[in-house]
Amino acid sequence: VGGSFEASWKAISTAGRATIEAGSAPCPVANFVVGPRSVAATRDRELARLREETPIFWHEELGAFCVTRYDDVKEVLTDGTRFLMSAPGLTNSLPGMLPLMDGSSHAALRELVTPAFSTATIRRTVQPTLDASAHSLIDRFARVGSTELIESFANPFPAFVIQRMLQIRDFDLMQFLRDGRIMVDFLSNPSDPEIASEFPEATRRQMELFEAVVADERRKPRGGVVSMLAEAELAGRHLSDEELVNFCYVLTGAGMGTSQVTIGNVVFELSANPSERAKVIDEPGLVPSAVEEVLRLHPPAQFRMRYAAEDLELCSVTVPRGSLIYAFASTANRDPEKFADPDRFLAGRYADRNTTPHLTFGWGAHFCIGAFLARLEVQHAVRALYERLHDLRTDSDAQLTFRGFRVPSLERLPVRFRPEG
Ligand code: HEM
Repeated sequence: VGGSFEASWKAISTAGRATIEAGSAPCPVANFVVGPRSVAATRDRELARLREETPIFWHEELGAFCVTRYDDVKEVLTDGTRFLMSAPGLTNSLPGMLPLMDGSSHAALRELVTPAFSTATIRRTVQPTLDASAHSLIDRFARVGSTELIESFANPFPAFVIQRMLQIRDFDLMQFLRDGRIMVDFLSNPSDPEIASEFPEATRRQMELFEAVVADERRKPRGGVVSMLAEAELAGRHLSDEELVNFCYVLTGAGMGTSQVTIGNVVFELSANPSERAKVIDEPGLVPSAVEEVLRLHPPAQFRMRYAAEDLELCSVTVPRGSLIYAFASTANRDPEKFADPDRFLAGRYADRNTTPHLTFGWGAHFCIGAFLARLEVQHAVRALYERLHDLRTDSDAQLTFRGFRVPSLERLPVRFRPEG
């Protein structure tokens, strides 16, 4: 799998992109390095302006058309005939890479792997480990009264979830986190020379872990998610070793950074909105709704990318075949045409509803296959944090820094709370 995997993945990740210069601010909604209150204010103003004035715009540095309104973003995500995951004409040489596939080959693989992510499978295989993982991390700092929550909790917790889900042995948490970070950074900014130079080694290390996972599974099935994947059969077809290894890579890439970011964002939002935090603490049944609201306001992947399958019209603009399109969930999720009072964090927004129309998990054929797992793990994390850490809030002296373009994340989140007796 080794070298050819890295080369192919790199080629696919950068296909059709113009150079994004390191250090430049490629997009007005890209980078925020400001304090907690002004973060939201600056970004919301900029996003609202773009959405109102320019529902579609060509972004020179990204080399892409960007769409910002709810209906348009949803259309791009849903219409798999006109908007493709892989550039037209580019053959995907990586079997098992579900998010890069289109049409019937995507549908066939998706059908094959879906049972491994069903509510029942996740409840049976992953849920029983969540509370113990969360509490063992909290044990390390609960008596101190303060911590930097990204490093001590938000980052390691989802890494442990992936480790347990895939049953990775010889697990070096710090290395796994570093490699995961490089993957996310690379997707955001493939032309940054430092990130690009670290990428092959990080990929190789991760692939070795997943090759061991698949070899272990083939020797002795272990009854978890990987067993479900290995045994899955559709019309007489099973996943090959290469597909399984690549799929483990996809799961880690898609499922770790996104959940890490979300946990930090929940604590950030609840700290910034004390009255909403009080409601959630008084009524823990509101946790799922509060998490959903944070996902709406801060989609970890702020945009999705597609390629125009043909010359097409989008928001009355002609988009030539092969063009790259960025569909911004971050702006769509605050579209006043769709969401009342869109910039406000309302913990109970989804309390009485079964549907969550935000586009944070995508829409249509590629809708996040890990959405149930993601929601569950973040909910368990948040319950554990607020159960254990009384008066948990952002340290008021702290300057909060967001980094990253594709996955904007809080770099540090210093918090204070009442030390556990
Ligand atoms: C808060 C956490 C998460 C968010 C916000 C998120 C978001 C998304 C989005 C937006 C897509 C659609 C991509 C597109 O249409 O271009 C997607 C797809 C996907 N996600 Fe997630 N995700 C999260 C967690 C997870 C987890 C925990 C896993 C599994 C461990 C996972 C696995 C996947 C996979 C395999 C796909 C590809 C589905 C396909 O192409 O058919 N995600 N995710």
